[in-house]
Amino acid sequence: MYTESDLEKINTELSPPEEEPERQYFYIDMCRRYLLEKEKEKGRKLTCGVFTFGCQMNFHDSEKIIAILQQIGYENIDSEDADFVIYNTCTVRENANERVYGRLGQLKARKKKNPDSIIALCGCMMQEEHVIKKIRESYSYVDLIFGTHNIYKFAELLYTRFISERQIIDIWKEAGGIVEELPVQRKFSFKTGLNIMYGCNNFCSYCIVPYVRGRERSRKPEDIISEAERLAGEGVKEIMLLGQNVNSYGKNLKPEITFAELLKRVADIDGLERIRFMTSHPKDLSDELITTMKEQKKICRHIHLPLQSGSTRILQKMNRRYTKEDYLALVYKLREAMPDISITTDIITGFPGETEEDFKETLDVVKTVKFDSAFTFKYSKRTGTPAASMDNQVPDDVVKERFDRLLLAVQEAANERTGRFEEHVKPVLVEEINEHNPNMVTGRLENNTVVHFAGDASLIGQIVDVKLSECKGFYYIGEIINK
Ligand code: 5AD
Ligand code: SF4
Repeated sequence: MYTESDLEKINTELSPPEEEPERQYFYIDMCRRYLLEKEKEKGRKLTCGVFTFGCQMNFHDSEKIIAILQQIGYENIDSEDADFVIYNTCTVRENANERVYGRLGQLKARKKKNPDSIIALCGCMMQEEHVIKKIRESYSYVDLIFGTHNIYKFAELLYTRFISERQIIDIWKEAGGIVEELPVQRKFSFKTGLNIMYGCNNFCSYCIVPYVRGRERSRKPEDIISEAERLAGEGVKEIMLLGQNVNSYGKNLKPEITFAELLKRVADIDGLERIRFMTSHPKDLSDELITTMKEQKKICRHIHLPLQSGSTRILQKMNRRYTKEDYLALVYKLREAMPDISITTDIITGFPGETEEDFKETLDVVKTVKFDSAFTFKYSKRTGTPAASMDNQVPDDVVKERFDRLLLAVQEAANERTGRFEEHVKPVLVEEINEHNPNMVTGRLENNTVVHFAGDASLIGQIVDVKLSECKGFYYIGEIINK
């Protein structure tokens, strides 16, 4: 990791280094000099706002973007009135795209008021050709556009925009190598995400991710471990290992390494107290992983295991490569190994050809498993995916009716599950002062359930024992036991 003093040493009179990440640190410095001039001109600090849509991966990417912006000298004000505004986009469902277009439309007036401001777009949506075409045609006031494969070049692209004052679009169809050691600005000092792999090879028939994030690439275990050690040294207690399908981590590395082996190595790091991971694909969840979770106390008793559908017929059309029975067997194995484990999931309703019978199979799994919580989605047609051209797209009113029934079933099970720790004493990692009551703090159990209890800012970042006095649906009100 580079520091401010390393930046001072970079000689910007020279041409940019060819090697990464040195090249990007060179451009961070060039941008910083440019911004200092702008600050002098305007007589004030310049500000930035970073807005993220979508998944944990995108939130983690935004932490990298914020770190670079801050090194350049922008003050992060979390507002669309800023001098530099970036949307890190998601395209997994159509409504995510629509939200971005809506927000972009509103930025036009702001840009008129502050013509020097810069608007940038990045993330998954930018990997789609029709999106870029639309932005070129209808949103010409956007200054900088890049995709998912070249986010590490953000500083270089921004500098190009600074000096050229024209619209910069740089989208790569394929991923290059993995660039290590770029700065990251953590939202919380005590917990963070850590990418272990990028991309996805599964091609579920409804999903756009493999097209916009590219093929699966695992980071080398030594790079992951040294980043995790550095984070632990900086006071991070909780790490979330991130990948689209963490269970297939390491399969494309030489020598091969399993995800369970990586988890053991991360769990050995002193200082780390909680290790999470996301997302697991049921087809790749190994017995080795279940045993490792059971044996390693630092690994949180929580697994996010997307079901998508409870109908074996639909699962096959989705190209998920497991059956309803396979899924139920996995849940049984997990609960047998760890009776207190929380299982959460993702479910799609209205996949093409889904009948009432198929839907009832999904409801049956929800009622049998009793998920701790579930993200439910209406199927959204993504251009270019196999499901988009399947017959029997389900009419909107049918999808809505099924979605509402699904939500009710999910909530009923979740309420019943969440309350099972009432009156127990459990460790809570305190995250922040309570949003509604300044005399209370808010934290999370190892299974991710939120707990509110009386306390002050000195507890933030600490793991404390809390009695879970009362379950209020999906969260607890508790009482601290020790300090
Ligand atoms: N329509 C609806 N939901 C989708 N997901 C992915 N693609 C689609 C789609 N086309 C959901 C899946 C996945 C989650 C991240 O988003 O449930 O697990
Ligand atoms: Fe999409 Fe399936 Fe890959 Fe998940 S595993 S990102 S749903 S293709």
